[in-house]
Amino acid sequence: MSGWEVFYESLTPPDGFEETKRKLQEFCQRQSPQTKIVLVTSGGTTIPLEHNTVRFVDNFSAGTRGSASAEYFLGAGYAVIFVFRQKSLEPFSRHFMGQKFLNMLEMVDENECLSIKVKGSNVELLRPILHQYQEVERSGRLLQVPFTTLSDYMWLLRAASESLSSIGSRAMLYLAAAVSDFYVPMDKMPTHKMQSDAGPPTISLQLVPKVLKPLVNMWVPNAYVVSFKLETDTALLIKKSREALKKYNHKLVIANILQTRKFRVVFVFPDTDYEVTLNDQEIADNIEIESKIVDDLAKKHDNYISGMV
Ligand code: PMT
Repeated sequence: MSGWEVFYESLTPPDGFEETKRKLQEFCQRQSPQTKIVLVTSGGTTIPLEHNTVRFVDNFSAGTRGSASAEYFLGAGYAVIFVFRQKSLEPFSRHFMGQKFLNMLEMVDENECLSIKVKGSNVELLRPILHQYQEVERSGRLLQVPFTTLSDYMWLLRAASESLSSIGSRAMLYLAAAVSDFYVPMDKMPTHKMQSDAGPPTISLQLVPKVLKPLVNMWVPNAYVVSFKLETDTALLIKKSREALKKYNHKLVIANILQTRKFRVVFVFPDTDYEVTLNDQEIADNIEIESKIVDDLAKKHDNYISGMV
């Protein structure tokens, strides 16, 4: 068995896995034969430190990239499988997180009848979002699949990929989740909460095999696969992205630096690269970089489907 197979053998599937697998298959079969389907992964994976998990290792990802991109893919006519970290941002509801939504509403007391209304200019903000949400609900083009741990993510990614394999080049994988490269194997984890009176624990993390390899070569060999590369050191960004393309043989790496990811990314191909950015005016106008990323990708995907690349 190869490294990733041994790794999968050691992981426990998430609760309700067979039911989720069935939903994924049904979702793909239900779409019309022309519809393109994108699998968007979003948010960060957790690494439990105990079987009865009280503590875990997490990362920064809020799911902004994934949830915004999912919306733009839906806007571009795609059906979307959104595999996301539970409690991270989701398409549509992301616009109303925290108290934002409550601040948009007001209570109106008319003739002893109390009603709730959307305040003034918020109507203009809400209208297009609600409109798109309702159309997506009606057409059944969005399937949301939550994960929490690295193990959940791995099982769900594989199941979602395999359910997409039957649609060949019409599938796109957009792997924006921040997936941990390290984990604590099940047999090295204590059953119960670590006790502080036992002194400071020594936690030994092991490397997670990159699943891009089986994904590209075996699970969805004809899909348009886009991975992301996150770095904090600019000097490494393009070099590491090219190395990934060479190693995994997929179509494109979208490279980003932690601090500038909301207004600058680099599309890296085996022989070329270019920037996709937001200028000051676009930032002031609340344009999201994901709109530009998705616009560009949808065209590339069409060319790929028609055999032009
Ligand atoms: O959610 P936000 O706050 O908006 O942030 C967005 C983002 C910065 C998380 C996103 O733009 C991004 O860069 N996501 C990928 C981050 C990442 O995991 O990079 P990486 O270099 O560790 O992994 C590269 C690729 O390998 C990823 O596409 C990942 O899906 C894949 N991978 C990772 C680990 C692993 N064991 N197997 C994998 O195949």
